[in-house]
Amino acid sequence: MQLLQTLLAAGLLASTAVAHPGGHDVLPSMSDIQRRSGLAKRCAGAVGEMNRKRWAKRQAKRGLEARAGNATFEIATEAPYYDVLQNDTCVLAPTVTEGPYVWPRSQTLRQDMTEGQPGIPMTLDVGVLDMATCEPLENVLMDFWHCNATGSYSSFTKLSPNTAFADLLEAMNITDSFEIGVTDLHTDDTTFLRGMWPTDSNGMMEMKTIVPGFYIQRSIHIHVEAHTDWVLAPNGTISSGNRVSTGQIYINETLSQQLMALEPYVSHTQINRTTNDEDSVFDQDTVGGYNPVIDFVAEDGVDVANGVIGYITIGIDTTDIQTGSISGAPAS
Ligand SMILES: *[C@@H]1O[C@H](CO)[C@@H](O)[C@H](O)[C@H]1NC(C)=O
Ligand SMILES: *[C@@H]1O[C@H](CO)[C@@H](O)[C@H](O)[C@H]1NC(C)=O
Ligand SMILES: *[C@@H]1O[C@H](CO)[C@@H](O)[C@H](O)[C@H]1NC(C)=O
Ligand SMILES: *[C@@H]1O[C@H](CO)[C@@H](O)[C@H](O)[C@H]1NC(C)=O
Ligand SMILES: *[C@@H]1O[C@H](CO)[C@@H](O)[C@H](O)[C@H]1NC(C)=O
Ligand SMILES: *[C@@H]1O[C@H](CO)[C@@H](O)[C@H](O)[C@H]1NC(C)=O
Ligand SMILES: *[C@@H]1O[C@H](CO)[C@@H](O)[C@H](O)[C@H]1NC(C)=O
Repeated sequence: MQLLQTLLAAGLLASTAVAHPGGHDVLPSMSDIQRRSGLAKRCAGAVGEMNRKRWAKRQAKRGLEARAGNATFEIATEAPYYDVLQNDTCVLAPTVTEGPYVWPRSQTLRQDMTEGQPGIPMTLDVGVLDMATCEPLENVLMDFWHCNATGSYSSFTKLSPNTAFADLLEAMNITDSFEIGVTDLHTDDTTFLRGMWPTDSNGMMEMKTIVPGFYIQRSIHIHVEAHTDWVLAPNGTISSGNRVSTGQIYINETLSQQLMALEPYVSHTQINRTTNDEDSVFDQDTVGGYNPVIDFVAEDGVDVANGVIGYITIGIDTTDIQTGSISGAPAS
């Protein structure tokens, strides 16, 4: 009870690890943070190079598409947004929280997890590096989940995104017994905005989705986990995998303001949006110099309202792997 109240008081519960029964490892330790920060810096050159290649590939693709389709926008011969691509890596670690809306049963193997949810189309372009070697990591199952444009998570659609998590728990008569990943709060079997897909031989993967909205007390974020050891059963279910990292990735505040001014996000007026600066988890995720903020560009090179591409490089600390199991939904 005391732990719970401490977390609630700090505004951390919706995000911070209650990783193990008894509440140990509530926050990543300073030594863990320093280690990840060191890894991130060591691989900066490799990250920069990986980002540059992905960027060039997309620019080339866009140029071709534009010529084929009589597009009227100007083709960029020099990538105008190149400067925003960082050499920083988002190094995830197994000890960071999955949050209360983790629900492996609804995680589905697919490259488009939109399922008709309204919102600004977003393609996540994800590069994965082994931080031990600074080399791309192949065949890592990347697992994403986030809320919809008005703050609801699939499988938990009856939990109001506008009610503080503590009040939700209280209404359900759950207080001191709550444990992330253990206490079952799911309300249904919907799967929207949950998906997973493995990296290719270049350590890359893409996921189509929409820009997430926001819910109470948290800034806009996407949950991500990586599994290095996983098996696809003949019936399409994913039977198990080592969890090597858990984390949350974010959107720059300038862009958030632009995007949230558009429908359907702008209709979410019941609560005020929490910014990255106000978000206590964002602080923990960014301390130590590694970078969980996605680099965005407009998909058509012109207007983010028409869709965005988000680049992020995720570093896997292969020396710090947790065994564990997941159980995803069948491929769709
Ligand atoms: C960033 O990566 C590029 C390679 O794309 C490299 O030339 C540059 O030196 C790197 N910068 C830092 C600070 O590591
Ligand atoms: C491109 O323009 C040409 C000539 O104006 C037209 O015949 C063709 O249908 C257009 N193609 C597309 C994809 O709009
Ligand atoms: C988000 O999901 C909730 C729960 O299913 C739904 O009521 C709401 O309409 C969805 N938001 C949008 C913008 O469709
Ligand atoms: C919670 O407990 C109160 C009083 O003990 C009871 O009236 C209420 O129905 C319970 N609510 C739920 C959702 O179980
Ligand atoms: C799919 O196969 C796995 C492994 O054989 C099994 O454990 C699981 O129950 C099966 N799931 C369904 C939905 O048939
Ligand atoms: C967000 O991006 C803008 C434009 O690229 C940049 O000027 C600004 O510094 C960024 N904000 C933060 C908080 O990083
Ligand atoms: C949002 O913040 C503004 C300014 O602080 C405040 O006036 C307003 O009541 C808030 N709205 C909600 C729904 O909390």
